[in-house]
Amino acid sequence: MAAASARALAAAVSALLAAAVLLASPSPVAAEEGCTQRPVVFAFGDSNTDTGGTAAALGSYLPLPEGRTHFRRSTGRLCDGRLVIDYLCESLNMSYLSPYMEALGSDFGDGANFAIAGSGTLPRDRPFALHVQVQQFTHFKQRSLQLIAHGEKAPVDAEGFRNALYLIDIGQNDLSAAFSIGLTYDHVVHHRIPSMLYEIQDAIVTLFYDGAKNFWVHGTGPLGCLPQKLAELRNDADGDLDDSGCLRTLNNASHELNNQLSSVCHKLTSQLKGATIVYTDVLSIKYDLIANHSGYGESIVEQSIDQPGDTACILCFLFLVLLTGPLMFQGLRSR
Ligand SMILES: *[C@@H]1O[C@H](CO)[C@@H](O)[C@H](O)[C@H]1NC(C)=O
Ligand SMILES: *[C@@H]1O[C@H](CO)[C@@H](O)[C@H](O)[C@H]1NC(C)=O
Ligand SMILES: *[C@@H]1O[C@H](CO)[C@@H](O)[C@H](O)[C@H]1NC(C)=O
Repeated sequence: MAAASARALAAAVSALLAAAVLLASPSPVAAEEGCTQRPVVFAFGDSNTDTGGTAAALGSYLPLPEGRTHFRRSTGRLCDGRLVIDYLCESLNMSYLSPYMEALGSDFGDGANFAIAGSGTLPRDRPFALHVQVQQFTHFKQRSLQLIAHGEKAPVDAEGFRNALYLIDIGQNDLSAAFSIGLTYDHVVHHRIPSMLYEIQDAIVTLFYDGAKNFWVHGTGPLGCLPQKLAELRNDADGDLDDSGCLRTLNNASHELNNQLSSVCHKLTSQLKGATIVYTDVLSIKYDLIANHSGYGESIVEQSIDQPGDTACILCFLFLVLLTGPLMFQGLRSR
């Protein structure tokens, strides 16, 4: 399918990546030397980034069409092709990131993926909320350094941890669940989003004081364009639909989350000396794919609903909520 949009996505990812890597480079010299060091990436998040963590952790099998267009097999991604993290790894000439929970066939030499589909930031102590993912990372790091101290091998050493890129993409499930349980827009914006951001900030600060320097934080996507949200019964009929057929109120909430998240990243950049925190507005990229879908050669919106194709994967997160929403839902309700 849409080879054009696949290229557009790859180009977008490469551009973001170039910015992240450039900013993350400790010095111009290192940037020129480029690839003398093996890049290491640690990822935290939800289905937008999960490369098989949920399948490994819960033993759930995600049959085709998940995985059918690129890998031609079920990979545990809630997606039929590749995720943004996969394009990132390809751009860095790394192997795809192994899920931390995958016991067989994993290679953590390039880092580890702690992202688990359906995860959010709250409740923080419930598997696999962001806080739990960060704790898993801390365990992974301590264990690695302990092994090295005893003269044994570990996939990543102290320098690898120090120079790694730490990717965080989370919040979509929190936001989705908040609206699903009927919280008002104002409550979400003034109470829920600040609590979520506190968790993301806490994760960055915790990782920073554990030695991380390079962060790539993704904003959330356009929640109001999720087929699941569009399919829900609404009181306001179609009055809330925008020109692209997405729900304005939910997209406003996504924008609000992103604006506040961007400010948090900005604030932390000045507070955490030596840290580079790159915030990326993922919403505008995803919204552009939806609003301008014909410009990418194919109706990816329709495809994502009826017949997902390779690049519709960027929209794959749309399906996730259907599968894992109840988990989050339960979590929020029990707070
Ligand atoms: C990845 O490999 C290709 C081909 O070997 C090379 O042109 C490119 O510069 C490499 N990219 C990085 C980020 O190392
Ligand atoms: C969405 O945000 C815009 C501008 O920020 C505002 O004018 C509009 O009333 C908001 N709409 C809803 C439904 O919240
Ligand atoms: C759609 O594409 C046009 C032309 O490239 C661009 O100006 C516009 O901002 C895009 N729309 C969105 C929603 O990104």
